[in-house]
Amino acid sequence: MAPTNGTEQKAGLKILIVGAGIGGLTAAIALRKQGHHVQIFEQSRFATETGAALHLAPNANGILRRLGLFPEDFGANPTQRTTEYTAGGHQLHTHSVEEANTRWQHPWQLAHRIELHDALKRAVSTPTSDGKASIEFKTSSRVERVDPYNATITFADGTQIQGDLIVGADGVHSISRSALPNCEHIKPFPSGKSAFRFLLPRQKALDDPETAALVQHTGELSMWFGVDRRIVMYPTSNNSILNFVNIHPDEESASETAGSDTWDQSVNLDKMLKIFSSFSPSMVKLLSKAEPESVRVWKLLDMDILPKFNESRLALIGDAAHPFLPHQGQGAAVAIEDAAALAVVLSLDTTTDEIEDRLELYNEIRYTRATKIQSFSRLVGKDLKPGDEKPNIWDFQNYNFGHDEWDNSTQKLREWTWKRNKNAYWRMPIAFGPMPGPRQTHFGVAQNSQKSTFSTASIKFKTSRTLLEALFPPMRSGWRFSVHDTVAYATFSQTTLNKLDWLGGSGYNHIGLYIHGVEYTREDGSAVKGAYLPVLFESLTDPIISGREELGMPKIYSTIDIYRRNTSYRVRTGWEGALWGDFLLQGLEEVDSSSLTEEKPAEEALLTYKYLPTTGPENKGKAVEEYTVLYDAITDETKAKVHKTYKAQKASFAIDPLDWEQLPTLHHVISRLAELPIYDIVEAKIVEGEGVPDLAGARPIV
Ligand SMILES: Cc1cc2nc3c(=O)[nH]c(=O)nc-3n(C[C@H](O)[C@H](O)[C@H](O)COP(=O)(O)OP(=O)(O)OC[C@H]3O[C@@H](n4cnc5c(N)ncnc54)[C@H](O)[C@@H]3O)c2cc1C
Ligand SMILES: *[C@@H]1O[C@H](CO)[C@@H](O)[C@H](O)[C@H]1NC(C)=O
Ligand SMILES: *[C@@H]1O[C@H](CO)[C@@H](O)[C@H](O)[C@H]1NC(C)=O
Ligand SMILES: *[C@@H]1O[C@H](CO)[C@@H](O)[C@H](O)[C@H]1NC(C)=O
Ligand SMILES: *[C@@H]1O[C@H](CO)[C@@H](O)[C@H](O)[C@H]1NC(C)=O
Ligand SMILES: *[C@@H]1O[C@H](CO)[C@@H](O)[C@H](O)[C@H]1NC(C)=O
Repeated sequence: MAPTNGTEQKAGLKILIVGAGIGGLTAAIALRKQGHHVQIFEQSRFATETGAALHLAPNANGILRRLGLFPEDFGANPTQRTTEYTAGGHQLHTHSVEEANTRWQHPWQLAHRIELHDALKRAVSTPTSDGKASIEFKTSSRVERVDPYNATITFADGTQIQGDLIVGADGVHSISRSALPNCEHIKPFPSGKSAFRFLLPRQKALDDPETAALVQHTGELSMWFGVDRRIVMYPTSNNSILNFVNIHPDEESASETAGSDTWDQSVNLDKMLKIFSSFSPSMVKLLSKAEPESVRVWKLLDMDILPKFNESRLALIGDAAHPFLPHQGQGAAVAIEDAAALAVVLSLDTTTDEIEDRLELYNEIRYTRATKIQSFSRLVGKDLKPGDEKPNIWDFQNYNFGHDEWDNSTQKLREWTWKRNKNAYWRMPIAFGPMPGPRQTHFGVAQNSQKSTFSTASIKFKTSRTLLEALFPPMRSGWRFSVHDTVAYATFSQTTLNKLDWLGGSGYNHIGLYIHGVEYTREDGSAVKGAYLPVLFESLTDPIISGREELGMPKIYSTIDIYRRNTSYRVRTGWEGALWGDFLLQGLEEVDSSSLTEEKPAEEALLTYKYLPTTGPENKGKAVEEYTVLYDAITDETKAKVHKTYKAQKASFAIDPLDWEQLPTLHHVISRLAELPIYDIVEAKIVEGEGVPDLAGARPIV
């Protein structure tokens, strides 16, 4: 979509991604899909991964599907029901969400984190079929420093790699983030809460009559709310595994979080049971079924919002940009959305000198949404004091779920492209962006009309000055003939245009009445002179629309059929089969172009009157815009080159006004043209050549 403006355009950018978490891997897949060459650097070897589950809400799910990842293929099960309990086990409410889920285009699924991560890694290591774009994936590669200004990353051993841009996807403890200027003070801090996370085979709970009732439904998201602690449980892996997130004040499990390398897992299980001992006995029984070594404790970190997610050639995504509290299960989803937005704005036609602007666009697209969901999560996680109103999580859910970042960013990129295209024409229908056409390509680049061809047949005649005057803009002052003679001259001039770039090389016909020797006097007394064009008929919609709206020319539609023979030229004009005009030039003989000394219409300035009506019955007769328009051929850069001129020995024309039935929309025009007497045919000729001045120089005269 972007204009090709001569800057370097490669077959894919070289993109360096720091961190192969959910955000980094999704970005790699999406950027490769766009055609780029991606290198990912991951510090770990992925030997030990945390077993846990996560939500793939519709907003993230749709993006994964677009990238060819279908969570049900790796065991994700749909969310079917949400249930809330008090800590003591009293059920507050339970809702089936299956019907609600039909509101979202994509499913709301519960996935095993490792299975998602594995699926992403498999996608990364499966080359694309055309092999044009690529991903190079390096583990055990810790990035020590990133330089946003030359897009260079530095590893521990001092080696450096330079790319076209860097994606910082290195999670909550991001080092990429430190490359944003004036953000040194923004660091993750404890939110005051920690979470125990572990997985448990669902069968173990079903086998025990005391706990079976808690896990009887498939796809059930259950939450138990204490004052300052809560338990979130849901199944994953085809409903075979239960995932627990047990949030509590972090000081209560503090000794275990002190150093993750010195964990004593059995102490974790005992601690957890103690911290949740006030919960219902069946819940405590359920928790006690955890394998001691599987229980991990996480300190939940929060962070102040960054002023932006971009700097020069660096973009931050996921937790590096906006660490998430887990209370809405949206952290991974927002990282996936970030990845999608980034890939969309970096379309394959991105030139290297556009990278910074496009990353700025990425920031603009993502900043509000990511920080808003971040703050919702904070709000949802807040302990409620008695009397506090519970936040309406369904409002948040509508905001979170009802978004398709791929499509949204696609539109934002379009709007960005349109804005940069300062030359482009906006006209109805505006929903689709600026229109290509007259005088420019769809990139807004001016077309070369020098190669376009024209063939103009004209019949100049002497006629009644009074009747011509009656065709001046009625009830508008300032119009008159320059001289006082009672005869005046007008020309019917018909042009066939061809080889127009903006029409894919084809052309169209037009015919108009040009009244010579007219002047329009401005309010300040100064006058402009030219040929006045009261009406121009054209045989194609596109130039009619743009000509009326932009140039202010009084264009209307008519069929214009040309019969060119060896020595004659005939034009027949009509509307839906009703023929109203017949113009005939006979005895054509080629002459030396320079032998014609009379002024040529193309060298005369042209005067028209623009009038655009206001919408609405109460506005009948009111113009949005009306004024005289002057087109001065001298200012047009495209010069017509005449190749051949033919003079006619004989010429005539006949205009049949027909009636209102036959010309329901044109009769008022044609009947007036039909009134014009022909005192004398002054000249009739055909001029053929190349180079079509396009009237872009038309200007309002006020
Ligand atoms: C308790 C808990 C529960 C959660 N539950 C959910 C949930 O249900 N749904 C949900 O959507 N989200 C959930 N999240 C959040 C989610 O896990 C994160 O928001 C998400 O993983 C962010 O993805 P990321 O790619 O930005 O970061 P990460 O997944 O953290 O990935 C960062 C990667 O970068 C690597 N890295 C870091 N530094 C460097 C470096 N210097 N050089 C090279 N590599 C580096 C890391 O090793 C890591 O692999 C939860 C989080 C927590 C803590
Ligand atoms: C879940 O079910 C799907 C489809 O039946 C199957 O392909 C997949 O292997 C299962 N996954 C797990 C983790 O059981
Ligand atoms: C990029 O700039 C850094 C200084 O910020 C410098 O150390 C490094 O060598 C530069 N890299 C390249 C490839 O120019
Ligand atoms: C990052 O984006 C912001 C806002 O979109 C913009 O003002 C800023 O100039 C960008 N920063 C850089 C260094 O490009
Ligand atoms: C894109 O998303 C933003 C919210 O992030 C919203 O305000 C905007 O209306 C959306 N635009 C489209 C075209 O979907
Ligand atoms: C066409 O006209 C030219 C003269 O202008 C003449 O020489 C030629 O014979 C004519 N051709 C036909 C087919 O009439």
